[in-house]
Amino acid sequence: MSAFDRLLTATIDHLEDLRNQGVGFVSLSPRTVDELFRRPAVSNASPSLSSNPPMPPRSPSSPVVARRSDPPTDPVVSAPSPAIILPAAGGTLPPPLAPAAKEAAFLALQKRALACTRCPHLASSRKNVVFGVGTPDARLLLVGEAPGADEDEQGEPFVGKAGQLLTKIIQAMGLDRNQVYIANILKCRPDTPGQSAGNRKPTSEEMATCIPFLHEQIDLIRPEVMVALGATAVEGLLGKTSVGVTRLRGHWQTYRGIPLMPTYHPAYLLRNQAPSEKRKVWEDMMTVMTRLKMPISEKQQGYFLTK
Ligand code: URA
Repeated sequence: MSAFDRLLTATIDHLEDLRNQGVGFVSLSPRTVDELFRRPAVSNASPSLSSNPPMPPRSPSSPVVARRSDPPTDPVVSAPSPAIILPAAGGTLPPPLAPAAKEAAFLALQKRALACTRCPHLASSRKNVVFGVGTPDARLLLVGEAPGADEDEQGEPFVGKAGQLLTKIIQAMGLDRNQVYIANILKCRPDTPGQSAGNRKPTSEEMATCIPFLHEQIDLIRPEVMVALGATAVEGLLGKTSVGVTRLRGHWQTYRGIPLMPTYHPAYLLRNQAPSEKRKVWEDMMTVMTRLKMPISEKQQGYFLTK
């Protein structure tokens, strides 16, 4: 067996192990996706490769963003979408960039995201790409599902009703939106053809296509703590499709070495106004505050406690 075949077999075994452990997705950087689809000879080398594309090693010394300033060629538009693409459950973050390089890389990433047409149906229906809001130097990153109509209109995440509730939660922690970073798994609003209102959950294919942008944002922001708001964020970041957010919330997870707290999406709290549910989210946030070594006052400790 050639070295290539041994590597291929080991990669397939590894992917199958991950799938058996409930991992639904592995992540490919936009650059790797470009390379895979630019080299049909490699991706057609084996039928099993095309159904199980190898998870690329993520070189800590070569952050994707730092090396890539050109706009993507949108390989996914013309190529079949990869069967498995998903969150980098393992691996570590690339080393931090110097402030000026970080700022430039963040702007370059934003520029690429704003010009993205990898999901032609979303690119043609969107009003704005909703890249993210807050400071790239945030210690805390909050990740939601996808923009809704208000976010699409304004180009900013979490500005509708659920967003206003999220803003109140952030303020209850003693922070404001400019001190954290807020982003979504999907940067475009999921289209709802034939409907003037309403939202839909992103498809796995849309998530797989878009999530490399979020991975790159995280590479640059390097938050100390992350919060996954709702099941789609958990699925996108951790690849856990089989474990619901109800079971995971309140329990620390790890995203590439960063502690990640799953909690309910604020839209759930709008649908279910029970103080007990608000308290659960608030307890998750106090756990996050403790991890960030933020003080918690007695007043804060008593929020949403039913007497
Ligand atoms: N819900 C989300 O998950 N994200 C937004 O930006 C708005 C609503």
